[in-house]
Amino acid sequence: MLSRGSRSSLVLPLLVTLVHLCLTRPSFSSSSSTDGFVFGGCTQQKYEPDSAYESNINSLLTSLVNSATYASYNNFTVTGSSSHDVVYGLFQCRGDLAMPDCATCVARAVSQLGGLCTQTCGAAIQLQGCYVKYDNATFLGVEDKTVVLKKCGPSEGYDADGLGRRDAVLGSLAGSGGPYRVGGSGEVQGVAQCVGDLSFGECQDCVSDAIGRLKNDCGQAVYGDMFLAKCYARYSTAGSHFYSKPHNDKSSNDGEKTFAIIIGLLAGVALIIIFLAFLRKICEGHGK
Ligand SMILES: *[C@@H]1O[C@H](CO)[C@@H](O)[C@H](O)[C@H]1NC(C)=O
Ligand SMILES: *[C@@H]1O[C@H](CO)[C@@H](O)[C@H](O)[C@H]1NC(C)=O
Repeated sequence: MLSRGSRSSLVLPLLVTLVHLCLTRPSFSSSSSTDGFVFGGCTQQKYEPDSAYESNINSLLTSLVNSATYASYNNFTVTGSSSHDVVYGLFQCRGDLAMPDCATCVARAVSQLGGLCTQTCGAAIQLQGCYVKYDNATFLGVEDKTVVLKKCGPSEGYDADGLGRRDAVLGSLAGSGGPYRVGGSGEVQGVAQCVGDLSFGECQDCVSDAIGRLKNDCGQAVYGDMFLAKCYARYSTAGSHFYSKPHNDKSSNDGEKTFAIIIGLLAGVALIIIFLAFLRKICEGHGK
């Protein structure tokens, strides 16, 4: 029979391996299709540290992350004690994300915002799979077609056929209703997404605008991204696919690493506790 001493000499290497696995695993997923950084921005105005406004932002961000476990869009307004400190916020997940992925994406976005926008009154971030924004001026329910990010790929590679397919895909995006739209023809794929606070008609108007700009500004580019303040439209051609195109933004990578390490450590601690409880049970069993 094994003694207590020889048992614990087996335990330590095993735990080290488990914790090591937990720490290294998230690095595979940091460039996955939902976590990739697309853009982020902060207002110039800053708030006082430890102010009521800061605690309102914190409770807003907590509400957003919690809410993303059961909805793909939600908005919150946190008033606090004085109307002076009111903060508005929302998140929108890409329409094809299942709920656990939506919540994971929003949690990552919020953790990256912390590093990106320190003590600014407002901030917004777009990852591949979700969008998060907050501000002290209301923007909820307001259609906004300001161009936030425009990116066109290289212009070589389209013949007349390819260009026709690209235009057909964009046309199908414009023609299908709803906040989330996908289309594809041959090797060309397209996606469009509205923020959930737009009405059906506003979404239609916003997506049409984004598509018109894509056609106009990106010409024959092999991929195009047009992010307006309340909607986006994107297309790509095989080989320049946006879902697998990681953006290596340094600050976001640092934020992601911190997030991954915290999750890894928490998982490691949980495993140690479970394992020790298991061991104790076995030892008690042998003691009887
Ligand atoms: C937002 O906060 C800034 C800085 O505290 C302030 O100057 C601005 O007037 C506020 N905007 C609104 C709409 O309350
Ligand atoms: C904000 O959320 C509330 C409650 O969920 C909802 O009734 C309202 O329509 C939403 N407003 C916008 C602009 O989406």
